[in-house]
Amino acid sequence: MTVGKLLDRRLVEAAALLHDVDKLAAVRPEVAGLAHGAGSAEWLARHGHPELAEAIVGHPVTRLEDGAWFERWFPMASAEALVVAYSDKRAGQRLEPMAERFASWERRYPPDWRTKNALERWSPETLADIRLRAARLEARVCELADVEPREVRRLEWTGRALRYARQA
Ligand SMILES: [Fe+2]
Repeated sequence: MTVGKLLDRRLVEAAALLHDVDKLAAVRPEVAGLAHGAGSAEWLARHGHPELAEAIVGHPVTRLEDGAWFERWFPMASAEALVVAYSDKRAGQRLEPMAERFASWERRYPPDWRTKNALERWSPETLADIRLRAARLEARVCELADVEPREVRRLEWTGRALRYARQA
């Protein structure tokens, strides 16, 4: 992958909008047993959108825990998948630096937020590895887009869409 590679913006937008669909109560039973992200990809494939799967399955922060998985995924991931995964690390209720996003997760889900219902907890060493992988993700995406992390912005239409959604 080289700097300046074109990506499918419509695919990125669709994947970004739908990446958490497996969290919906109406969807969860249909994808029971699948990991978060894989459930979204599976459900979307069943509903006619298999093209979104690759851009969605790698987005959960929990994927960054698995070093072997990351080392397979990272060099092969499409630009679309990298952007969706990175966006997930920057976008909460608002666009924020990755450090704030991680801090927000830790505040909201102490102390088992990282694994939700899993029994194990991440050690400080594992958390450090996760942050390093996230930093590599950020560096790659920003290199591809030829921007610095502080220059990343939401697309213009998202402000209108968020206002509309809040009124619904
Ligand atoms: Fe997610």
